[in-house]
Amino acid sequence: MNPKTPEGRPLSKVEIKGAEARHYDLLMNVVTGGTYPLFIRRVVRDMQLQPGESVLDLGSGTGRNALLMARYLGQTGRVLGLDIGDEMLAQAKRRERARPDVAFRKLRIEEPLPFEGEFDAAFISFVLHGFVQEARLRIVDNVYRALRPGGRFLILDYQEQEPAEESWPVRLVFRAECPLATDFVRRDLQALLSQKGFGRFRQVGYYRNHVRLLEAVKEGATPGLGSKPREA
Ligand SMILES: C[S@@+](CC[C@H](N)C(=O)[O-])C[C@H]1O[C@@H](n2cnc3c(N)ncnc32)[C@H](O)[C@@H]1O
Repeated sequence: MNPKTPEGRPLSKVEIKGAEARHYDLLMNVVTGGTYPLFIRRVVRDMQLQPGESVLDLGSGTGRNALLMARYLGQTGRVLGLDIGDEMLAQAKRRERARPDVAFRKLRIEEPLPFEGEFDAAFISFVLHGFVQEARLRIVDNVYRALRPGGRFLILDYQEQEPAEESWPVRLVFRAECPLATDFVRRDLQALLSQKGFGRFRQVGYYRNHVRLLEAVKEGATPGLGSKPREA
């Protein structure tokens, strides 16, 4: 069951179930006009993963991204994916069978996680926008704890936008896809991450900069560089 805030609002809107979950990869390919496979390969390339690294994938879905990441990690690297959706996990577990370096566990990412300073990188892809802000903060805290010092937090999600910058098709997509996305794009993610001890930001933009890969390094409360993303 999706937990609720004290006011009774669901904490997250990205728990995907039923046919949407069973056909998630296909759905993503269709809604992006067939561009998703190339886009996500570019993103994983831009993550600059190194052989031997261990990666935590929060809200790992069908496991498609985890397998792409594993290609960069060599014989000694590994990916651990966390998800709460049974249908998503069933697909991920099928992928896990073929890969000893990739594993998936059923864990709720906004609740305390059993990891302490053990990952080189943490990835969260189209998940953070779907939580209320208090749950997003808990996820960031969980990632901070799970990363080793100098570890990288890689967030793939919608780019921040002022209301005036938003075109009506974008507004329509946010409203249809997830109502919390509108709240997410109004927040200053780098400021939040700086407060939580991350810094040395790097950004890459995709889909005319509506989507951004934001890298933040675990280093203590160093102010961010605040650069605008470059188009991939
Ligand atoms: C929009 S999908 C993104 C999946 C994947 N990251 C991708 O980019 O293909 C959101 C995923 O987050 C998972 N999720 C939602 N709430 C979660 C939670 N509280 N804890 C763990 N996973 C969660 C869903 O089951 C789903 O697989």
